[in-house]
Amino acid sequence: MPPGVLTKLNRNGIQCIASVTLLQRFPYHRNHHTIPTMDQNRPTVGGVTAEVLKAVVSQALLGKFTAVFPKLFKCQWKTYEGQKKFYANFSTDCTDSNSNNMSRKFCVGGNWKMNGDQKSIAEIAKTLSSAALDPNTEVVIGCPAIYLMYARNLLPCELGLAGQNAYKVAKGAFTGEISPAMLKDIGADWVILGHSERRAIFGESDALIAEKAEHALAEGLKVIACIGETLEEREAGKTNEVVARQMCAYAQKIKDWKNVVVAYEPVWAIGTGKTATPDQAQEVHAFLRQWLSDNISKEVSASLRIQYGGSVTAANAKELAKKPDIDGFLVGGASLKPEFVDIINARQ
Ligand code: PGA
Repeated sequence: MPPGVLTKLNRNGIQCIASVTLLQRFPYHRNHHTIPTMDQNRPTVGGVTAEVLKAVVSQALLGKFTAVFPKLFKCQWKTYEGQKKFYANFSTDCTDSNSNNMSRKFCVGGNWKMNGDQKSIAEIAKTLSSAALDPNTEVVIGCPAIYLMYARNLLPCELGLAGQNAYKVAKGAFTGEISPAMLKDIGADWVILGHSERRAIFGESDALIAEKAEHALAEGLKVIACIGETLEEREAGKTNEVVARQMCAYAQKIKDWKNVVVAYEPVWAIGTGKTATPDQAQEVHAFLRQWLSDNISKEVSASLRIQYGGSVTAANAKELAKKPDIDGFLVGGASLKPEFVDIINARQ
């Protein structure tokens, strides 16, 4: 029995047998960007191909009855195309840490930082509203707090809205701060925490950032949790050590990772025009995925989205987006420009 099966059996009992078998039989799971292949000429049971039947059974065994059956009946499952779509959606869920990123929805954040006014925000909103945005990409706009409500009213409703900071408690005598409850109250659903500018300029520690993340998640916000090494740290060969330390701090406080996206942003690449090469970025993303697998769980490692940030532009986004462990971007300067649309659509 291959080791993957053993681990899954130990951890989840019988439930994963079908899925593991499925994963082994359909190796497209390991080929990122590959559309699943189903053999159109294979025998079917009542018009349903064997692959789809297996996907349904495996998901049912995983306890996903409620998710899987309504979707099956909604999609045009009697047609080959309908079944293919269904199969692509539901047979990718039980993945391990070596899996590709097919099951992780691409997620692009725009971090406007302390930029913009009513006029320019209205222009950006107009550009985003009139553009054809890839429906397979989740988009989140990190807007200055004072314009959040204004931006919410102008941006397409399917775009998420993020505060760029929030304090670690709900309310009180904390002059100048805003709380996750306040962000939620005015229509934001995300918050960016631990950005290198908050760390370097405002002296935020790993521990404080982790406490903020814990509280924001408890209040129902989704969190973009930033990490990244300085140039000095990279040159000293400490990149992995630094990002592991930052992840450790988050992990002390975050128990449920489903509403978290990690943004790996090498500090030397932020706002400098010096992007990490796709290989440099992938190397750290792969390290983070392994770290998650070793220190949190294989499930979190397989499902947690890791964005890359640092001088992402329309010109370099496509190459970066091809890397198997890069699940999106956190974009500063270019998110204020029309080219942000091309970055959102980098996977197309
Ligand atoms: P940049 O900023 O894209 O302007 O480099 C990225 C960020 O700070 O999130």
